[in-house]
Amino acid sequence: MPQPDRWDLLIKRDDLTVSEIRAVSCPRLEPGQVRLAVEKFGLTTNNATYARFGESEIPFFDAFPGPEGYGRVPIWGYALVEESLHPDIAVGDRFFGYMPMSTHHVVAPEITPRGFADTTPQRQFLHPWYWNFERAGAPDGLDDRRALIHPVYPAAYSLADMITRQAERGARSVIVTSASSKVSIGLVEELAARDSGLAAVGLTAARHVEFVRALDLYDTVASYDELATVEAAGPSVFVDVTGDAKVRINVSQRFADDLLNTTLIGFTHPEAAVFPPPGLGGPEAEGFFTPAVEWQAVEEEGADSYYGRYTKSEDRFLESTESWLTIRQAQGPEAIAEVFGSVLAGKLPPDLSYILRP
Ligand SMILES: NC(=O)c1ccc[n+]([C@@H]2O[C@H](COP(=O)([O-])OP(=O)(O)OC[C@H]3O[C@@H](n4cnc5c(N)ncnc54)[C@H](OP(=O)(O)O)[C@@H]3O)[C@@H](O)[C@H]2O)c1
Repeated sequence: MPQPDRWDLLIKRDDLTVSEIRAVSCPRLEPGQVRLAVEKFGLTTNNATYARFGESEIPFFDAFPGPEGYGRVPIWGYALVEESLHPDIAVGDRFFGYMPMSTHHVVAPEITPRGFADTTPQRQFLHPWYWNFERAGAPDGLDDRRALIHPVYPAAYSLADMITRQAERGARSVIVTSASSKVSIGLVEELAARDSGLAAVGLTAARHVEFVRALDLYDTVASYDELATVEAAGPSVFVDVTGDAKVRINVSQRFADDLLNTTLIGFTHPEAAVFPPPGLGGPEAEGFFTPAVEWQAVEEEGADSYYGRYTKSEDRFLESTESWLTIRQAQGPEAIAEVFGSVLAGKLPPDLSYILRP
């Protein structure tokens, strides 16, 4: 169907499976503002999580307001400057940052060493991590993979730092749920690259066991239903990526005596909840909020050192995904809505992702 030149893709807040494409005007910029044209982005369960928790303690739907009853789901991606009333940002400049599922996005940049921070009052409630737009060079061979994975690799990398410290305290195994997710795969790949010495136990849905085994990154792979037969050399660290109360309770009770640490980071399963359910075994569960963890590491270590080692690892991981992750291209709001629906429903197989262009 022919689409307007400028549009927002709106998702119904009380039924995330319903979407609507709405034409939008091109408001005049205020001094200092910049209009970005969204170039391309990937979608993972991270975006579904933003939508599911759109009205939570971190009300992601408030970042990019929509008409009554609708929200614009946040994405991370590349954009090109279409119009600029900022002296240090030129038309054609390329950035990577946090935007809505729309053709265009207006920001109020304050220049930073790595790009700019979007100071738009509407988004001040978010951790400053979300305000950051990184200056991006011309696309290289990893550009699509970076568009997809750069938003979630910080979680994998910060987790690897935390778990490395747990290994120094005596941990011998790490037990990871949603073992087929990019966060989990990034984490175990990074631990292997560091020669952490930790045995990695991956738990996943029965339909994903074969895929996770074939990655050859986990020492043990089992489905959630096989948990009772899974062994892990203790002491262990439990990283939950599902947010699923049943999974969290079952895993923490199974390994309770041997758990050094329980970290709750993800919410991949549809019934995921933010807070730990009653009945968890083992040590008190800790929530893991990557923006805060990364910012603390940068403060302690210095930005050059931290992002230097981070970028080396991310580039290595992006290259390694070429062996297991197919990336397809799609364009237009209808295609974006369709891929979002598949991601939300958990229907996209873990070895396939899309790069989407408005
Ligand atoms: N706390 C933080 O700071 C932080 C930072 C980044 C990401 N995260 C979170 O980490 C999670 C993983 O993100 P990602 O981008 O790595 O995800 P992803 O690669 O898209 O993960 C896909 C996997 O999640 C599970 N899944 C997804 N939808 C499902 C559904 N509807 N029903 C059942 N299982 C489903 C399946 O894994 P299994 O079958 O293996 O369970 C699936 O293979 C997200 O919840 C994201 O928000 C948190």
